[in-house]
Amino acid sequence: MNAIIVTGGTRGIGRAIVDSIADRLLAKEPDLGEAQLVVTYRSETAHAQSLGTALRAKGVVADVLAMDLASAESIDAFVGHVRENYGAVRALINNAGATYDGSFLSISDEGMDKLIESNLSGTIRLTERLLPLLKVANPAAVVFIASAAGVYGKAGQVPYATTKGGLIGYTQLLARRCVRQNVFVNAVAPGFIATDMVAKLDPIMYEPTLHNASLQKMGAPEDIAHVVNGLLKPGYVQATTIKVDGGHLR
Ligand SMILES: NC(=O)c1ccc[n+]([C@@H]2O[C@H](COP(=O)([O-])OP(=O)(O)OC[C@H]3O[C@@H](n4cnc5c(N)ncnc54)[C@H](OP(=O)(O)O)[C@@H]3O)[C@@H](O)[C@H]2O)c1
Repeated sequence: MNAIIVTGGTRGIGRAIVDSIADRLLAKEPDLGEAQLVVTYRSETAHAQSLGTALRAKGVVADVLAMDLASAESIDAFVGHVRENYGAVRALINNAGATYDGSFLSISDEGMDKLIESNLSGTIRLTERLLPLLKVANPAAVVFIASAAGVYGKAGQVPYATTKGGLIGYTQLLARRCVRQNVFVNAVAPGFIATDMVAKLDPIMYEPTLHNASLQKMGAPEDIAHVVNGLLKPGYVQATTIKVDGGHLR
C-alpha cells in the first residue's frame, strides 16, 4: 500500500488538505491509485482524535501519528513506522510549521533554533529520509507549504520569513535531484489564511497586507487544499512556488 503523508494535518490548512484527499480516495480517483492517508500532528491530541473520528465516519482508513519536526528522534521514529507499514510514498505534503510573530532581534537563540528545526531543517530531514520511498512510488509528489512571507519577505518577521524562504530554495534543489525518478516537487506560498495560526496574530500584522491585496480578504484553508491537490498529479509543473495570496500587490 502507498502512503499519502500530510504533516500537521489535524487542523487548519493541513486539515483541509486531508479532507480533500480523503474525498478523492473515497471516489477512487485513478490519479492517486491505492493509497492510505498518514497524518501527523505535534502534540494537540484533541484535534488528532477529532480528525480520526471524522475520517472513520466517512469510511476512510488513516494513520494519525504524533511527530515533532523539532526532534530528530521523533522524525526517525515516524519514518521507521512508514517504512514498516507502507511500500512507497505517493505524496508527501510538508505542511506542518510554526510561526513567530516578531523581529530577529526579539527572538532568543533557542527560539530561533526551534523555529528553524520546526519549519526548515526538520522538514528537510523528513523529506530526505522518505526520498527512497518516494522514488519507489513512480510517480510521486512532494509539496512544501511555504509562505508569501518567504517569497516577498515580511516587515518585522525575519525569523519566520527566512525559514520559509529556505524551503523555497530547497524545493528547487530537490526537484532537480529527483526528476528522473518521476518525483514532482513544488511549493505553495499562502498569503494570510484563516486558521488558528492567524487568529493568534495582532491584526496590525495582516490588515495592511489584506488591504493592499487585489482580493482584499483573507483566504480559506480550502483555497490552499485546492492548489495542493492539483500538484499531486504528474504534469508540467515542477520546481516552482505557486503563490496563493489573493493577489499580493506590495
Ligand atoms: N495560516 C496562514 O496564514 C499561513 C500563511 C502562510 C503559510 N502558512 C503555513 O501553512 C502551514 C499550516 O499553517 P496553519 O495556519 O494551518 O497552522 P496551524 O493551524 O497552527 O496548524 C499547524 C499544524 O502543524 C503542526 N505543527 C506545528 N509545529 C510542529 C512541529 N514542530 N512538528 C510537527 N508538527 C507541528 C500542528 O500540530 P499540533 O496541532 O499538535 O500543534 C498543526 O497540526 C504552516 O507551515 C504555516 O507556516 C500558514
